[in-house]
Amino acid sequence: MKATVFLGAGRITGALAAGLRRAGDERTIIAYDRHAEKLRVLRRESRVGTARDLKSAVEQAEMLIVAVRPRSVKEMLAEVAACGVAPPKLCISLAAGVPLRNLRAWFGPPVRWVRAMPSPVCRIEKGLTPLCFGRRVSNADRARVRKFFEQVGPVLELREEQMDAITAAFSPSHGYHALARLAAAAQRAGLDRKTALIAAAHALADGIEYWRRSGQSLDELLHEAATPGGTAAATMAAMDESGYGRAVANGIWAGIRQARRNAS
Ligand SMILES: NC(=O)c1ccc[n+]([C@@H]2O[C@H](COP(=O)([O-])OP(=O)(O)OC[C@H]3O[C@@H](n4cnc5c(N)ncnc54)[C@H](OP(=O)(O)O)[C@@H]3O)[C@@H](O)[C@H]2O)c1
Repeated sequence: MKATVFLGAGRITGALAAGLRRAGDERTIIAYDRHAEKLRVLRRESRVGTARDLKSAVEQAEMLIVAVRPRSVKEMLAEVAACGVAPPKLCISLAAGVPLRNLRAWFGPPVRWVRAMPSPVCRIEKGLTPLCFGRRVSNADRARVRKFFEQVGPVLELREEQMDAITAAFSPSHGYHALARLAAAAQRAGLDRKTALIAAAHALADGIEYWRRSGQSLDELLHEAATPGGTAAATMAAMDESGYGRAVANGIWAGIRQARRNAS
């Protein structure tokens, strides 16, 4: 039996497995992790099989997905090498910032590496997955990887030098962060918590959904929503004068620097 095998059964493995099952993918998924409780949760939630040890996990893999934190990838791959079983030729790393050259140095040919950066929103089949392929990945394997992630949302193929920027820019944490900040400000201005969250979610989620569906440009939508001299225009101007653009740019660069630290 050949399976998709996840090394690491943490947050993103849980989200991907749940999204795949929700999308109707009933193929075998196996996970390996040092925490038995995480494996039990995955089995219960998403019918993910448990490997009794790393060797048996690797033996069963037709596609191996490395889903440990960036600092653990080298150690994890050394453990795979030490277990004496050849990994499948197609391996995918989800580790933010860890470049293909490091992956190849830690586990070289015949393994062919792909980097993928799934979003936890894949749980509801709306997760965007940026992908970047190593040069030696065949067209058939590229198509296979695209198809795999497309089950849980759109896929975006990028050059490797763009991966850190998209990692910092596309995280749904931006949405949650903006929602939390906007709702807190609305609450301080007199709304109760529930109403503040309804207002902030409408401003962010419904506004952006309208942009997506309408096909109108952002300038057109801003023109429609912010009457010159009105409250929305005054709110945006004050936010910009207070450094809104700078704060967002600083946040993105901090994320990029953090991803780059994982490349060393
Ligand atoms: N979370 C996201 O939304 C997201 C999105 C895209 C990409 N990613 C990437 O996906 C990777 C995993 O992120 P995550 O948030 O899912 O991490 P996580 O929740 O910490 O899960 C990783 C799991 O792997 C285990 N592990 C690490 N090394 C191991 C080893 N040698 N043997 C057995 N188990 C081991 C960890 O155990 P310990 O805790 O004991 O180390 C942990 O249970 C990261 O590289 C991250 O950059 C995450």
